Amino acid sequence: MKKGFRLLSLALLSIGVISCGGGGDSGGGTTTTPTAVSFSGSVQPIFTTNCVSCHSPGGVAAFMSLASGSSYANLVGVAATVTGTPPSGTRVVAGDHGSSVLYQRISGNGLATGEQTMPQGLPLLSSTDQDTIENWIDEGALNN
Ligand code: HEC
Repeated sequence: MKKGFRLLSLALLSIGVISCGGGGDSGGGTTTTPTAVSFSGSVQPIFTTNCVSCHSPGGVAAFMSLASGSSYANLVGVAATVTGTPPSGTRVVAGDHGSSVLYQRISGNGLATGEQTMPQGLPLLSSTDQDTIENWIDEGALNN
């Protein structure tokens, strides 16, 4: 009777160990997968905090709303309306941050003569925020 109970406990214990091991393995696999930058989760919050005061209906830069729900359609593959020298091209070129006017404006890199950095009249975004936008563009500028 007592011996049987001990054997049963041992059996249950090993089942527990095996299933724990399995769970640990699949958890490790998930953490090593690189995560794509989410437009709605990581990029839009940057616009909402730093840009929509001007770039939304009623603001001084309402011509390009960066408000949630409008921003994506106003950026990706859309020709820039304010052209410097040379003319600035496309707001967001999917996969190519260097050619994207959005990136040029927030970083100051590759800016055409006469174009100001954004946010206008304020210090540049943090390098973390600039990197988030750069990576999002290079990953294909998805509406994710
Ligand atoms: C204080 C108001 C203000 C803020 C804040 C601001 N902008 Fe602007 N933005 C403007 C104005 C005005 C223009 C048009 C004049 C110019 O091109 O400099 C403009 C132009 C732009 C353009 C060029 C669009 C085109 O079609 O040529 C981009 C891109 C841009 N802003 C992005 C941003 C981003 C991204 C932010 C936030 C990080 C931001 N702006 C914050 C006022 C603002």
